[in-house]
Amino acid sequence: MEVKTKSLLDNMIGVGDMVLLEPLSEDSFIENLRKRFDHNEIYTYIGSVVISMNPYKSMLIYSPEKVEEYRNRNFYELSPHIYALADEAYRSLRDQDKDQCILITGESGAGKTEASKLVMSYVAAVCGKGQEVNKVKEQLLQSNPVLEAFGNAKTVRNDNSSRFGKYMDIEFDFKGDPLGGVISNYLLEKSRVVKQPRGERNFHIFYQLLSGASDDTLKKLKLDRDFSKYNYLSLDSAVVNGLDDATSFRTVRNAMQIVGFMEDEVQSVLELVAAVLKLGNIEFKPESRCNGTDESRVKDKNDLKEMCELLGIEQSVLERAFSYRTVEAKLEKVSTTLNVAQAYYARDALAKNLYSRLFSWIVTRINESIKAQAKTRHKVMGVLDIYGFEIFDDNSFEQFIINYCNEKLQQIFIELTLREEQEEYIREDIEWTNIEYFNNAIICDLIENHQNGILAMLDEECLRPGTVTDETFLDKLNTICAQHQHFESRLSKNSKFLTDHSLPHSCFRIQHYAGKVLYRVEGFVDKNNDLLYRDLSQAMYKANHSLIKHLFPEGNPAKVNLKRPPTAGFQFKASVGTLMRNLQTKNPNYIRCIKPNDKKAPHIFTESLVCHQVRYLGLMENVRVRRAGYAFRQAYEPCLERYKMLCKRTWPHWRGPAREGVEMLMADLQVPAEEFSYGRSKIFIRNPRTLFFLEERRRQCLQDLATLIQKIYRGWKCRTHFLLLKKSQIVVAAWYRRYAQEKKYQKIKRATTVVQSYTRGWQARKLLRELKHQKRCKEAVTTIAAYWHGTQARRELRQLKEAARNKHAVSVIWAGWQGTKVRREYRKFFRANAGKKIYNFTIQRIMQKYFLGLKSTLPSMSPIDKNWPVRPYIFLDGVHTELRRIFHLWRCKKYRSRFTEEKKAVYEEKLEASELFKDKKALYPSSVSQPFKGDYLEISKNPKYQKLNSSVDEKVLLADVVNKINRANGKGATRILLLTKKNVVLADQKTGQVKASVALPDLTSVSVSTQNDGFFALRLKEGSASAVKGDFLLSSEHLIETITKLHHIGSAASDGEQLNVDIADEFLVQFKQDKVCVKFIQGAPKNGNGASCKRKNNRLLEVSVPASA
Ligand SMILES: Nc1ncnc2c1ncn2[C@@H]1O[C@H](COP(=O)(O)OP(=O)(O)OP(=O)(O)O)[C@@H](O)[C@H]1O
Ligand SMILES: [Mg+2]
Repeated sequence: MEVKTKSLLDNMIGVGDMVLLEPLSEDSFIENLRKRFDHNEIYTYIGSVVISMNPYKSMLIYSPEKVEEYRNRNFYELSPHIYALADEAYRSLRDQDKDQCILITGESGAGKTEASKLVMSYVAAVCGKGQEVNKVKEQLLQSNPVLEAFGNAKTVRNDNSSRFGKYMDIEFDFKGDPLGGVISNYLLEKSRVVKQPRGERNFHIFYQLLSGASDDTLKKLKLDRDFSKYNYLSLDSAVVNGLDDATSFRTVRNAMQIVGFMEDEVQSVLELVAAVLKLGNIEFKPESRCNGTDESRVKDKNDLKEMCELLGIEQSVLERAFSYRTVEAKLEKVSTTLNVAQAYYARDALAKNLYSRLFSWIVTRINESIKAQAKTRHKVMGVLDIYGFEIFDDNSFEQFIINYCNEKLQQIFIELTLREEQEEYIREDIEWTNIEYFNNAIICDLIENHQNGILAMLDEECLRPGTVTDETFLDKLNTICAQHQHFESRLSKNSKFLTDHSLPHSCFRIQHYAGKVLYRVEGFVDKNNDLLYRDLSQAMYKANHSLIKHLFPEGNPAKVNLKRPPTAGFQFKASVGTLMRNLQTKNPNYIRCIKPNDKKAPHIFTESLVCHQVRYLGLMENVRVRRAGYAFRQAYEPCLERYKMLCKRTWPHWRGPAREGVEMLMADLQVPAEEFSYGRSKIFIRNPRTLFFLEERRRQCLQDLATLIQKIYRGWKCRTHFLLLKKSQIVVAAWYRRYAQEKKYQKIKRATTVVQSYTRGWQARKLLRELKHQKRCKEAVTTIAAYWHGTQARRELRQLKEAARNKHAVSVIWAGWQGTKVRREYRKFFRANAGKKIYNFTIQRIMQKYFLGLKSTLPSMSPIDKNWPVRPYIFLDGVHTELRRIFHLWRCKKYRSRFTEEKKAVYEEKLEASELFKDKKALYPSSVSQPFKGDYLEISKNPKYQKLNSSVDEKVLLADVVNKINRANGKGATRILLLTKKNVVLADQKTGQVKASVALPDLTSVSVSTQNDGFFALRLKEGSASAVKGDFLLSSEHLIETITKLHHIGSAASDGEQLNVDIADEFLVQFKQDKVCVKFIQGAPKNGNGASCKRKNNRLLEVSVPASA
């Protein structure tokens, strides 16, 4: 089980529970309240009773978070709050199946209604949820604005003062979900409808209707928005600060709708409210009758008419009811006229009755809506918001009634508190000690006793025939109650008060449990009678308005009841009786509201006012009753949990039963035995002193413990930190070492590798050296062997050579010797010049051999054979070359000598052509292999040219077709060119007609290009006969032959002057008068002979010669 150690004793301002107040006195009580109030602690407990101070400001202690905080918590677990009480009540209702009642008392403006709403809203917040449940909750909560609008008014004490007592039973199912509710209302202050004290207002609904209703609604209700138009509305405080009547009207309409009022019902209610206002405006005037009495008449019938229209009443009926009164007695009916005062009385009585009945109807209607539907057994939580004790300067019948109610509530409080206390003692098996307290049953008896109680006597007076006045009533009291110890009156038989001037003659005083109250008897009888003339109720019944008819059932002529209706006092006593019986069956929860000041202002604490309330609420009495036995009690588990640190045996854990733990604790702390008792489940502490002693010890101990915990925590924290550091250090060190080792290892590895590599290198080199050495050795061996073998061989060779040389030397020497011997022998046979002769002989012999050899090795006779035998001796070099040249010349001569004359001429021409063109004109090489035919046209044989042939005198040396180039456009025209020894003739190719004949001497030169073309220009001597037309530019396929021939003939014919052949790529040609430049350019390669001539301008003829491919 979870044991909660939190308590309201923690962080307490003053004391949270007055039972613990030490010392207990009125001053300390009020001082404690003030201290808490100054710290915004508006709630204080007296045991399970909550004292609530009105903060007159909105507090942040009602938030949903607060609701959650207090939800399902023990009453004393948290600081005092109204929610703690609501939670306790709701939980014992839900979990223990105990019906609850919450009794909220306090004077006007102390915060009762607010408290009741807080309780309801808390219960609504913590109880179950669901569509149906939420609707019920909403209806229950929304009944408040409706009732407040009709039953609350602004008074000097409270801007929203409840002018009725309200008891609401909220019904729950077994799960604790709300099912519905029943509202009971008590004693509406209906006198307020017709008259309000200075600075106060009528009920809110009147102002709300006029401010908030639409123009249309007002028109329908025949109302004017102006408050001043209505006599029943007080004007001096019609507008209240902080109250927005128009908005409130909308809220009320909305709330009525939520609660379940039909639209026509709302309309009827508003019509009645409007009718009350109209009623107030009806005024009367006296009208003298013939019998001398005054009869009242309605002054201005307009309001009456409108009111009658609103309620559907026949105007004349109501008018008559304001003028006459019918008294029925058995079979008689007596009608008396009403004077103006009586008429006003009747009007006001009607207004009051109309309004109070309307209010009761509204309550009934709400009950209809909110009543629980299910027929199962309900759990009930009652909330009583009823006026507190009233002690004014001028106290009347209402105060008397109210104070009577409060006496009854006090009585029930005492009864229930004591009963509860006693029950607890029995439950806990604690010895019951009698508690001294004041029992107010005697006062209740003074008021309500059936025979001689004040209310009974008042009723008696009211019902008594004859003249009944307030004075006669007082007299009666003076007689009957004179000896009662709580009744005081100047005129009583009690001699004690005969001289008490604080007691006026028309008053009596009652010593209530909360103080003495002086009541003035004036109006007691009237108010108790609460008379409404039958004529009026009948007039109302006749109304054509369902609600009005319903409100005045006694007006039904069919049910005329001659019995007087029950008096107000009687009714109230009866309803209080019912209420008390109801409350007695329930578990009570008290909220005592206190108002801190009269100014409705926050932060002001008026001590006298609070003191007054503390007294009449009987709060001191409350504390005393509560403390009569034991001031404090607590279940063993939380008690042990809270104080276990005070004893070493129970700290930190107590393993045994909690009770034994607490016993151990108490024994250890040496608390005197009379200071506490052990119950079954709780320890009861008699004096708050003891509790505070425990608390103080706990506080000290907590400090020590806190230090200890701090110490241990710090130690733990430091150690944890240290361990963490250590762990981290180890990790860091490990990592570092690993890193360092890795580095070292890598270094060593590198070094090893280096050393290894050096070693291996060294070894390898060593090995290499060795191998090399071995190889060299092998080589050396081979070399040595080779050398050796060589040496051997050479030695052998040398020896052989030596031997051979020796042998040769021997033979040479022998030969020399032989020669010497021979020469010595034959010297005597040779002459001195024999050597020269031998030499010559030898030379001749060689030459002979050379020539003979040459003869047999001579090359062929062909001049182009390049062969020649190889020279046999160097000294024959010049001879050999010369012989070759001579042989070649001889061979050529031999070759030439075989030529005929014609062939010779042909070769001469070829030679000439070679001299002229070789290496000068590109066309030349191609002409070398072509034989120079000369007469290509076979002119002498061809009959076609017979005529032409005959026209030429000499022998034709060359006949060929040429192209004559037209000077104008460069185009060619074919001509026959004939060359004779004297002339060059040009003839038409077709006709054979001579076109031109140029005598060879007239030719100065022939111009040709260097290129591979057949163009040539015949340049004529200036002034010659042939030169008239200018030079000829021709083109021939046999150019080389033609020019060679021309040159040959020209050279032969001329007398010393040779025909020049100019070879150049640019030359001038005389055409008639003009000199035209013929320019040869290299064109693109073309197939065939494609040199073309083009006249470029007057001075230029361009011949494009295709480059040879
Ligand atoms: N708990 C609270 N927090 C804030 N303001 C409060 C609280 N209780 C009361 N008040 C203020 O005090 C005013 C009067 O409270 P309330 O109407 O509850 O008094 P009452 O005891 O019901 O008076 P009456 O007997 O005249 O009906 C409220 O209108 C509100 O302004
Ligand atoms: Mg109220």
